[in-house]
Amino acid sequence: MNNKKYVVGNWKMNLGAKDGAALVSQIKDAYDGKLTNCEVWVTPPATTLPAVASVLQGSTIRYGAQNAYTEDSGAFTGEIATPMLDEIGASFVIIGHSERRHIFGESNELIAKRTIGLLKKNFTVILCIGEMLPDREAGKTNDVIAEQLGDILKEVTPEMLDNLILAYEPVWAIGTGKVASTKEIAETHAFIAEFCRKNLDGKCPPILYGGSVKPNNFGEIIKVPLVDGALVGGASISFEPFKALIDIAAE
Ligand code: PGA
Repeated sequence: MNNKKYVVGNWKMNLGAKDGAALVSQIKDAYDGKLTNCEVWVTPPATTLPAVASVLQGSTIRYGAQNAYTEDSGAFTGEIATPMLDEIGASFVIIGHSERRHIFGESNELIAKRTIGLLKKNFTVILCIGEMLPDREAGKTNDVIAEQLGDILKEVTPEMLDNLILAYEPVWAIGTGKVASTKEIAETHAFIAEFCRKNLDGKCPPILYGGSVKPNNFGEIIKVPLVDGALVGGASISFEPFKALIDIAAE
């Protein structure tokens, strides 16, 4: 359904302004305006965003934030608002990353609030979902995903759907070097797609896979049905591996 592939770098808490600007200069020199079927996006830490913005503004490489809140301003210490992101041209937000859920305690409810609030503001949201190892071992992967998605999809309108991207990231595969098998990825993406179609009048947003995606496994992963690209942590914070992933997706 979606022919375009996405390679989205999630820099997490890595790369300050100087290193971040240097990395996106390399990415821009290699790919700006050169890809037709592949989107390349980067997600620096908040304080690195302005430096990245000044390199990437006007280019085809998009940059976004690792989290954002729904209010435009006010007493929300530690949060970033969409007008602040608009001001520097950041055009998407990652919401519900497993590190937000499991290290910083963000609940499904808060993640739903962020997702719907940002979609209402026409902001593109990459919504992360995924099970922990005990869930998978207990055969509860689909139940966890249904719980993470259910309340959100109820509120997604057809207009909002254009700005929604899902990222399936099994928590046990993130930053561990343990990648899910192509069978596990295929089955879970198929479940997510079916769950979306049931809840969204037959429609399904793009679904990225994330969790230890590297140049040596991405060639197999990108061929799995219903995988529209990757959300990449470790392999996105230096040029060579990130370039290798883009080249695989753009093939
Ligand atoms: P990883 O991170 O590629 O380092 O496993 C992926 C993610 O957390 O989005």
